[in-house]
Amino acid sequence: KRLFLINGPNLNRLGKREPDTYGKKSLDDVVTLVEQAAADYGYEVTSFQSNHEGDLVDWIQRAEEEAEGIIINPAAYTHTSIALRDAISAISKPVVEIHISNVHERESFRHISMLAPVCSGQVVGFGIDGYRLAALGMIQKIESEGR
Ligand code: DQA
Repeated sequence: KRLFLINGPNLNRLGKREPDTYGKKSLDDVVTLVEQAAADYGYEVTSFQSNHEGDLVDWIQRAEEEAEGIIINPAAYTHTSIALRDAISAISKPVVEIHISNVHERESFRHISMLAPVCSGQVVGFGIDGYRLAALGMIQKIESEGR
């Protein structure tokens, strides 16, 4: 059993990038966090990060065959990407959207998610612990009913 963990643009610089907003932990720390949470329930994790929208689309498509579900931080593409939204709509696997910061207390352009309406759930504002919460919610969802 496998989960995909997908991170979008600029999250490769997590820990160095705007630490007051996103914290000091790295993307490797995030991957470890999700791997540990998933392992407790017998899930493995495949992690992918890209700064390129089309690469993220490719990985969402791959999940249909290769994963039980996706945990995704689409980063800035959250607010703009119809392509990512369509990719999520077109697969049958559950997707949980996660944001490290509380996007709702930030600029108004961050209040809109193009993706949330086609995701199973959203975790916002708990720092990188949100990834663990997303993993637990995702596994609960898969084990109980699917999407
Ligand atoms: C983010 C929030 C987005 O608005 C921003 O563009 C990011 C990170 C978050 O995790 O809080 O890059 O997705």
